[in-house]
Amino acid sequence: MKCRVCGQPANINLKAYNTALCAEDFISFLENRVLHTIKKYHLIEDGDIPVVAVSGGKDSLSLWHIMNKLGYGADGIYIHLGIGEYSDISLTKIQHMADTLKRKVYIFNVHDLFRKGIDELARAMRRPPCSACGMVKRYIMNRVCIDKGYTVLVTGHNIDDEASALFGNLLYWKREYLWKKNMVLHGIEGHLSKKVKPLFLCSEREMAAYAILCNIDYIYEECPFSVDAKSLVYKGMLNKLEELSPGTKIRFLKGYVKMVKEEVEERDYCAICGYPSYGGKCNFCRLLERFKIQGNIYFEEHGACNLDSPQRMVT
Ligand code: AMP
Ligand code: FES
Ligand code: ZN
Repeated sequence: MKCRVCGQPANINLKAYNTALCAEDFISFLENRVLHTIKKYHLIEDGDIPVVAVSGGKDSLSLWHIMNKLGYGADGIYIHLGIGEYSDISLTKIQHMADTLKRKVYIFNVHDLFRKGIDELARAMRRPPCSACGMVKRYIMNRVCIDKGYTVLVTGHNIDDEASALFGNLLYWKREYLWKKNMVLHGIEGHLSKKVKPLFLCSEREMAAYAILCNIDYIYEECPFSVDAKSLVYKGMLNKLEELSPGTKIRFLKGYVKMVKEEVEERDYCAICGYPSYGGKCNFCRLLERFKIQGNIYFEEHGACNLDSPQRMVT
């Protein structure tokens, strides 16, 4: 098979696009796809100051790399969840990328605040680790984004993540999640950051190929708690459909995005921290209260990032 652009031997076959490309042309293709997605769906607009949530995995690290290559100078946020080696190795990969890109990365250490890692916190809350983790991550990401003056929070969710989540929400008609799901969620100035997903049309396979071809040093292991059996089954089923009819996942997501209208929700603000909540106090502040931790004092002393060198500024 030959590369459709240059005629050299192809390295990757992209059935969804009915094309095959060599390594070099695939890298340009993927970067252009991300740029096109950002522009077409108005993910990042003139005057926006983006910050990327990086987990240390292939998607978010590649996205951080691509954004800076495309000229969207973006810093990073990493939430160290205290999941043993997994969190420590992720951190080294992120610091390496920050040094390469010469960008800041804000690091928030969950253990430093709670004196517990996410698994212990989840046990105390009687919730699955992923649910406790999601709540803590959403709060910290939003807080860092707003406190540090960024206007858009960028995450590395890919088409497989988005299509499987959408499929699950449809299957159970989870209306409350279904209509909240979008590739751009608008914020509330000073309270809630705008959130965008520029990789929502890029597949896991494409992102892995990109990371390897660009020598991006990422953590191969998945989070030990993130084995969500259902979402793996949905991903497998969607991949089978994709094999039978290439382009299915793209059509599924593009169709949804075209149809869905963001619902603007009424939000309260937490009486303690002032960030959005669905009641008098936000879940994060309730958690702090439960462990008798003075959150506001902690944040005043440490800012929204708490590691020794919270802003690894490389000039
Ligand atoms: P996941 O929910 O683990 O599939 O991650 C989805 C996206 O959330 C990643 O691509 C990152 O952008 C972001 N993310 C996940 N974990 C972290 C973390 N510990 N710190 C910062 N961002 C994260
Ligand atoms: Fe959240 Fe693993 S990343 S529990
Ligand atoms: Zn609060």
